[in-house]
Amino acid sequence: MDIAIYGAGGSGRELEEMLVSYPELRGLWDDIIFIDDTKEQGTFRGYQVMPYERIVELYSPESLEIAIAVGEPASRELLLNKVKNSGYKLATVVCPLAKISKSAYLGEGVIIIEKNVLVSEDAHIGDNVWVNANAIIGHDVRIGNNCQISSFAFIGGRTRVDENTYIGAAAAIRENIQIGHDTIISMGAIVLKDVRDYKIVMGNPAREIAENKDRRVFK
Ligand SMILES: CC(C)(COP(=O)(O)OP(=O)(O)OC[C@H]1O[C@@H](n2cnc3c(N)ncnc32)[C@H](O)[C@@H]1OP(=O)(O)O)[C@@H](O)C(=O)NCCC(=O)NCCS
Repeated sequence: MDIAIYGAGGSGRELEEMLVSYPELRGLWDDIIFIDDTKEQGTFRGYQVMPYERIVELYSPESLEIAIAVGEPASRELLLNKVKNSGYKLATVVCPLAKISKSAYLGEGVIIIEKNVLVSEDAHIGDNVWVNANAIIGHDVRIGNNCQISSFAFIGGRTRVDENTYIGAAAAIRENIQIGHDTIISMGAIVLKDVRDYKIVMGNPAREIAENKDRRVFK
């Protein structure tokens, strides 16, 4: 079984480096391939790179798992639908230095990058969620599909984050909070109250300052 990293940007390169750095991960897949729809077939960092259409021609769903390595939740959702329509399974990759409670649930395609992530007791992380280094996900937290949890984010116990939401770096979210879907929690926000769907929140205490109309974090 090979692994294809969908996205040859920063996230994709981080994932590749993690895959080759830890002996526990190195043996899980035979070969690494990059998928990038903006690149012609060729090589990238010594690996094959090709657009998705070419992957579908060359690899059967039985021979390949795909890791979606893009930071925009809306793009994660789009790519998830695309690869699922072609019958591929998502690769779940967890840094061996993360602490995942035995009672936590990780969905298909969860990627936990590098060190010091904590996923606490009975937390439930949906499919296709990307969690960056040093994020803390409290007990009984529920994270919906396609979310991105940035470095040093803190999510307090029993909080719920609905699908396609972006949690910025070093944001802190109080316990028992409901965060809507397609929402952006800005870098460093201190979230003390529930956040509705499609909102952008900022500051300390965090306030809803705009609509996430175009569903884009990185402009
Ligand atoms: C929320 C966010 C998406 C807004 O981005 P944007 O729409 O491009 O907004 P701008 O940078 O143009 O800023 C708009 C205003 O909000 C303010 N602002 C932006 N981000 C802020 C933040 N995190 N906290 C407080 N204020 C912020 C800006 O100072 C600016 O204020 P002004 O109009 O008074 O000058 C972005 O700030 C953010 O937090 N992105 C996530 C970053 C991150 O977590 N990266 C880690 C992974 S690489």
